[in-house]
Amino acid sequence: MNILVFGKDGQLGKAFLEQFQNSLGRSENNFMFVGRSECDLSDASQITKVLNSFEPNLIINAAAYTAVDKAETEVDLAFAINASAPEIMAKYAAQHGSTLLHFSTDYVFDGSKQDAYLELDITNPLGVYGKSKEAGEQAIIKAFAKSKAGQYAILRTSWVYGDGSNFIRTILRLAKDRSALRVISDQYGVPTSASWLADVAMHLVLDGSNQRKFNSGVYHAVPQGETNWYGLACLATQVAKDAGLPLQVDLDSITPIPASEYPLPAPRPMNSRLSRVKLQTELERLGLMSKLPHWYQPWDEQVIAYVKNLSCI
Ligand SMILES: NC(=O)c1ccc[n+]([C@@H]2O[C@H](COP(=O)([O-])OP(=O)(O)OC[C@H]3O[C@@H](n4cnc5c(N)ncnc54)[C@H](OP(=O)(O)O)[C@@H]3O)[C@@H](O)[C@H]2O)c1
Repeated sequence: MNILVFGKDGQLGKAFLEQFQNSLGRSENNFMFVGRSECDLSDASQITKVLNSFEPNLIINAAAYTAVDKAETEVDLAFAINASAPEIMAKYAAQHGSTLLHFSTDYVFDGSKQDAYLELDITNPLGVYGKSKEAGEQAIIKAFAKSKAGQYAILRTSWVYGDGSNFIRTILRLAKDRSALRVISDQYGVPTSASWLADVAMHLVLDGSNQRKFNSGVYHAVPQGETNWYGLACLATQVAKDAGLPLQVDLDSITPIPASEYPLPAPRPMNSRLSRVKLQTELERLGLMSKLPHWYQPWDEQVIAYVKNLSCI
C-alpha cells in the first residue's frame, strides 16, 4: 500500500513518522513523507503532481496553517492550506478509492456550550483559522458525498503538543527567564499528545498493509480528562522543576487570570472540550481497544511523561 503523509515537519507529522518507523506496517507499505519544500500546499498544482505521481492508497494530512492570530490577516493563505488543499486530497481519494485521514480543531466551535462538544453540534468558529478549518471539513465531506469509493476520517483534536512549538514549551521557556507568569484559567480543553493522536489515528485507518474499513465521518480525538491553561502551566512547571530544569518560576508565582485580561488578535473558544464517545464506539466496533493501551491514559499522565522527556525547552 502507498501511504502519503503531508506535513512531515509539524508536530503531528513527526509523530506519524515515528509511529511508522516503529510499527509493524512499516515493511509492508511504501511511504512518502512530504513537507513544505517538497510540496507547497498553497499551490494546487504541486499537490496534484504529488498525488498523481505517488498514487497513494492512504493520504494522511498532518499539515495545516496553524498560526491562529496571523490567520486574521492572512485569510487567503489560511483558506488555501486549510480548505482548498484538503479538498484536492479528498477529491483524489474519492475518485481513486483511497482513504483520507485529515485533522481538524476545537476552534470550529464558539465555545459557548456548557458540556463537551459532540461531532454533530453546530460549528460556529470565532476566527479565521477556525473558519478555514471548518471549510476544509465541509469540502472533504462534500467530495465524498458524491462518491461511492474511498473513505475519510476527520479527527478534531485540541491543544496539541509534540516535537515543535506548543503551549507547554512556551510556558517552560518563559518560566526559565521570568520570575512570575500570568496564565488564563477560564478556557477549558484537553491537551493532546501528538504521539497519542498519531497512534489512535493510525489504528483507525490502517490494518497492516490494508485500508481498514471504518465508518467515514468526523470524530473527536482527545485523551481522557480536561483542564484549563493555568492547570496545564502549573503541571508542566512542577514536573520540569522536579526533573531539574532551571526554572525561575515557582507554582506560587503563576497567577490565574481571565482570558479578558489577555486579549489576542483571534478570539479563542472558552470551552474546547470534545466528547470522544463516538470515536471510542467506532474503535470498539473495530475490535481495536486491546491495541490501544493508552486510550484511557488521562491527559495529565501524558503531559508528565512528555515534560520528563524534554531534553531542552
Ligand atoms: N497545534 C494545536 O494545538 C492544534 C489544536 C487543534 C487541532 N490541530 C490540528 O492538528 C493538525 C496538526 O497540527 P500540528 O500541531 O502538528 O501543526 P504544526 O506543528 O504547526 O505543523 C503544521 C505543518 O504544516 C506545514 N505547512 C504549513 N503551511 C504549509 C504549506 N503551505 N505547504 C506545506 N506545508 C505547510 C508546516 O510546515 P513548516 O514546518 O514548513 O512550517 C508544518 O510542518 C492540524 O490539522 C491542526 O489544525 C492542532
